[in-house]
Amino acid sequence: ERPGTMYEAIGGADAIEKIVDGLYKRIGVHPDLVPIFPDDLTETARKQRLFLTQFFGGPKLYTEDRGQPMLRRRHLPFEITPTRKDAWLLCMDGALEEAGIAEPYRSAIFEKLTMTAHHMMNTPE
Ligand code: HEM
Repeated sequence: ERPGTMYEAIGGADAIEKIVDGLYKRIGVHPDLVPIFPDDLTETARKQRLFLTQFFGGPKLYTEDRGQPMLRRRHLPFEITPTRKDAWLLCMDGALEEAGIAEPYRSAIFEKLTMTAHHMMNTPE
């Protein structure tokens, strides 16, 4: 765990776990998102924990487990419309709030994820 990373600043593995739990709790009941996610979100959440750990500067757990992220390519099988992008970001915003992520980290994280979410869109409405 390198000092000075976003990962460390927000509280490491505990913070990531809270964010991911809150994210999939919301995704699992969001009418725009339910149709494209598996019923059982356990494995999805596990992969997201690995990804966000490395995305925020922590250990490269995702790459060790899954290889290069290539996230846009991994999302191509799913129709990600602007509406679904907004829904995903709303779920994440609630998760960051519930996890108690403090400013300025919360806004910095949300901005970074907003750019990534835009990159995942692959289908018009
Ligand atoms: C996987 C939807 C944005 C990271 C998935 C899956 C869906 C999905 C349906 C497959 C779930 C599964 O099979 O387990 C969406 C939608 C997004 C979005 C609708 C809206 C823009 C993002 C963003 C990130 C992200 C912004 C990164 C911060 C991941 C990761 C996986 C994943 C790491 C697992 C990939 C793997 O199989 O290793 N997403 N996603 N997604 N998503 Fe997203």
